Amino acid sequence: MNESPARERPKNTYTALDFFAGSGLVTEALSPWFNVVWANDVSAKKARTYAANHGEGHFVFEDIKNISGTQLPPAILAWASFPCQDLSLAGKIGGIHAPRSGLVWEWLRVLDELDARPPILVAENVLGLLSSKGGAGYIDLHNALTERGYNVGPLLIDARRFLPQSRPRVFVVAARHGIPIKQLPRGKDLWAQTGKVFSRLRERLDNVVPWDIEPPKALIPRLEECIEKDAPFPKKEWQEHNLSLILEKRLKQFDSSKETISAGYRRIRNGRQVLEIRFDGIAGCLRTPCGGSSKQLLIFKAAEGFKIRFMTAREAARLMGAPDSYKLPGTYLDGYMAMGDAVAMPAARHLAKYLLHPLAEVACANVRKHQEAV
Ligand SMILES: C[S@@+](CC[C@H](N)C(=O)[O-])C[C@H]1O[C@@H](n2cnc3c(N)ncnc32)[C@H](O)[C@@H]1O
Repeated sequence: MNESPARERPKNTYTALDFFAGSGLVTEALSPWFNVVWANDVSAKKARTYAANHGEGHFVFEDIKNISGTQLPPAILAWASFPCQDLSLAGKIGGIHAPRSGLVWEWLRVLDELDARPPILVAENVLGLLSSKGGAGYIDLHNALTERGYNVGPLLIDARRFLPQSRPRVFVVAARHGIPIKQLPRGKDLWAQTGKVFSRLRERLDNVVPWDIEPPKALIPRLEECIEKDAPFPKKEWQEHNLSLILEKRLKQFDSSKETISAGYRRIRNGRQVLEIRFDGIAGCLRTPCGGSSKQLLIFKAAEGFKIRFMTAREAARLMGAPDSYKLPGTYLDGYMAMGDAVAMPAARHLAKYLLHPLAEVACANVRKHQEAV
């Protein structure tokens, strides 16, 4: 579907570290402006995807707990898409100090061990970081970054502004004190900082940076454009069973006048398994399937009736904005898993283009000016 932007990549100017790099969509998103010189992850399957697309020379297949900052190269940017399980509204909310999401503190420990912390940091996670427990997780992270000498603010960016997938994510951006953030190009409004969650946050913190970046103007592909036309359908009995999980009242919501493609998940509601379908023309948030569950289904309605199948790994990759040239090694499930908890590529790229790269430019211009003056 998409052409790989890597092909016409301009010379990268700035260096970056990609912590919890998974299948590498952050490295891919940053690539026009930042050259990732070090990345890590603990999943062997995702490491294979990362290596297949970005090489393995700079990739460290290691638990963050065993990483020492003294081993890392210097960089302008450090990005951490840390595990979301303890902040996800779908899971039990243990919070930012629970074992999995709490790995963010290991990231900070590694940064503390570097000769010099990068001037720009990004921590990315689910909305629960800002919204659960009155924003307690965000506030702890915000204060930890502020204490380390950064100006900090979160942006809430939903992948649906670029792709036919609902995927709201919080991007916490921190710029070292002294970076003249007033010199950044300004957008039209604080579109990535609106809503109740931000007004509540501002009541509790008086130093949230109002990051003001260009709003996305991308032409959003339709769900139909992400479909693999020749993907096979399973046996009739399997399809009939899954279609029988759609509630009668939902079946009536299908537009009888045209062919449609809808996405849905099987869920337990009131003790019964149902297939919940979206009727807004986009897919639900992709998740990491555990043991084959939580995979998204596609329902095709045509004049001759309904057909149903699981979404393919390539369709999942398209819904994350990965170019079709992005390699998905291993089985179907490996490919689907590699995409399930990745970062939507165009959302990260938008942030890189309109905030991280301008920040790197002003940060480095500032250092150059300082050096010339000495
Ligand atoms: C939200 S995903 C990051 C996705 C990635 N940025 C991408 O675009 O594909 C979190 C990642 O943390 C990794 N992870 C979990 N525990 C880890 C640990 N102890 N050390 C290093 N990585 C870990 C997971 O394997 C997973 O790939």
